[in-house]
Amino acid sequence: MREKITLGIETSCDETSAAVLRGARELLSCVIATQIPIHRKYGGVVPEIASRNHILSILPVVDQAVKEAGIKRSDIDQVAVTYGPGLVGALLVGVSAAKSLAFSLGVPLIGVNHLEGHIFANFLETKELAPPFMALVVSGGHTALVDVADYETFRLMGKTRDDAAGEAFDKVARVMDLPYPGGPEIDKLAREGNPHAVDFPRALAQEGNYEFSFSGLKSAVLNHINSERMKGHEPNKADIAASFQAAVVEVLAHKAFEAIREAGRDTLVLAGGVAANAALEKRLRETAAERGIRYLYPSPRLCTDNAAMIACRGAYQAAAGRYSDLYLNAVPGLDFVSA
Ligand code: KG4
Ligand code: ZN
Repeated sequence: MREKITLGIETSCDETSAAVLRGARELLSCVIATQIPIHRKYGGVVPEIASRNHILSILPVVDQAVKEAGIKRSDIDQVAVTYGPGLVGALLVGVSAAKSLAFSLGVPLIGVNHLEGHIFANFLETKELAPPFMALVVSGGHTALVDVADYETFRLMGKTRDDAAGEAFDKVARVMDLPYPGGPEIDKLAREGNPHAVDFPRALAQEGNYEFSFSGLKSAVLNHINSERMKGHEPNKADIAASFQAAVVEVLAHKAFEAIREAGRDTLVLAGGVAANAALEKRLRETAAERGIRYLYPSPRLCTDNAAMIACRGAYQAAAGRYSDLYLNAVPGLDFVSA
């Protein structure tokens, strides 16, 4: 029997993306139309503007993904789409497009959890990867440690109580007048700074606690900048970026390796936009090597939002018989769901 062709669609935030996958791991195409330059002038994503641009881009992006994959629309066997978490108006564009395509082609629809998609990006990157493993998901909207027991069973070990890691990067960058999105800017600036220059707080450091909190850290950065200015000093942005980043990286790495030990896993996978951070990647790689843990992360293109990871998650769900009906709706606050 020929392998199924899955069309993946992703519109949860500010990237309009479509991808074509053969089987569960062979990526034929992935097209991403980013709206970052549009939102940059507002310092962050404006939900209404995001929805409107998804409407403009979605069908051309799907057509391009089909063309680049060298297939015809009629070759598509199933349509996978992100239905949450994310911005409601943005999600609705993808969900509506996916439903219309599935209905008109007469093929099944698969609603995909965006966070599970981020984890599944690792299956596209590392073909031989298989569960069980521990996943550290660090994106603009979420920070979570997830124990992946098999392709359909996820245990949430802990998540953030307030800001997500990427959100903290973006907010701190904003106070330092750096452009949106702030994560890559801080990453770059931190390379020239001293990570020990300012001792920023590491929240919820107790053993056995896998929750995160980054809002106190963000306030500490703001207070530091204000107090430097009140003393008549111009704050050293590179040192602040490096010290802030060191605080985030230390907490993420510490908790990830504690969680891996408790769950008895031997593999750590990194997922989400913040996975592109060089200091985080280096710290996890070094600690994993010291402790004999296998450590994997997707290439930058698969770390940030894309439809390839959604198609991959969808293909596994379909293999487990987990389809959606045409009543599928956007769920902006969707959390991890265990089957
Ligand atoms: O996963 P993603 O593309 O979107 C969400 O699902 O949220 O993540 C975007 C987030 C943004 O907050 C961005 O600043 C952050 O990932 N990010 C980074 C880096 N590249 C992207 N954060 C730190 N260092 C980076 N190099
Ligand atoms: Zn994401």
